[in-house]
Amino acid sequence: MNITVIGSGTMGNGIAHVFAQNNYKVNVVDVKADALEKAKATISKNLDRQVAKGSISEEIKASTLANLTFVDNLSIGAADADLVIEAATENVNVKLDIFRSLDSICKPSCILASNTSSIPITKIGSVTNRPDKVIGMHFMNPVPVMKLVEIIKGFKTSAEVADTIVALSKKIGKVPAVANDMPGFISNRILMPMINEAIETLFQGIGGVEEIDTVMKLGMAHPMGPLQLADFIGLDVCLAICNVLHEGFGNPKYAPCPLLVNMVTSGSLGVKSGSGFYDYSGGGKELVVASQFK
Ligand code: NAI
Repeated sequence: MNITVIGSGTMGNGIAHVFAQNNYKVNVVDVKADALEKAKATISKNLDRQVAKGSISEEIKASTLANLTFVDNLSIGAADADLVIEAATENVNVKLDIFRSLDSICKPSCILASNTSSIPITKIGSVTNRPDKVIGMHFMNPVPVMKLVEIIKGFKTSAEVADTIVALSKKIGKVPAVANDMPGFISNRILMPMINEAIETLFQGIGGVEEIDTVMKLGMAHPMGPLQLADFIGLDVCLAICNVLHEGFGNPKYAPCPLLVNMVTSGSLGVKSGSGFYDYSGGGKELVVASQFK
């Protein structure tokens, strides 16, 4: 089975790494040559870390790298694919354009999967002539470490395609969980309202940043507090997903907290911008509450 991964950013390079390590030939496609270079370096560095920990051998590292081809042209990269996994930027128009192109480039039997966090799979499938073969394959970050793959069945996804993707996920050592195509699927339907409520709790002055995260870590056994997790995900991403839930269900309970909106508007996006609920200007080794919340 030939795999093509589209988008070689945070998620794309992890997805490519896992398939290549499990003996699949993988073409990695990106529109940006520097993103492909960076992905190659990241995968190599992550494999070195696995070798150093003794979880893989030097031979596995070499065979993983040999299974990967980096291509900057979609027509070349996807022509022979049996499965394409799209992990390009979370923008609906970008994704619809990619799927329209894939539908004409790929073999009729090829399954087209998206790693989207929030865009409806049914909408993506509707721009192709094969909505029965379009499915969500939602990996978690960091992909080589996280076991879960949330598999999303669009309204027209066939049972056979869903079964194939469930079996394949197990084959690469992941644990699949199947969801129907509703806003936020399972993962973000539950996670984002919790994060939004944590922000609302801060906004209403019920607790400070440290108190909120401490309650959830020590009281609920979460490995990371919801505000720290929001910083890691990216506050812009959290806001976008809250908006998808709010618009998709038309229910005010999903409305994003005004504090979240303000933080994103002002450019406080979490780890990627250097500050969110915590300050990362010192490299993030020590958790320091951002000055606005002290
Ligand atoms: P990213 O910004 O790190 O990488 C996206 C890559 O897609 C970039 O290298 C960009 O050059 C490339 N790209 C953009 N348009 C393209 C096109 N037309 N053809 C080929 N490549 C193109 O983004 P990230 O974080 O890897 O997210 C990718 C997808 O995964 C999104 O749909 C996101 O919602 C989803 N996701 C992200 C998670 C995360 O924690 N970052 C977790 C789970 C899902």
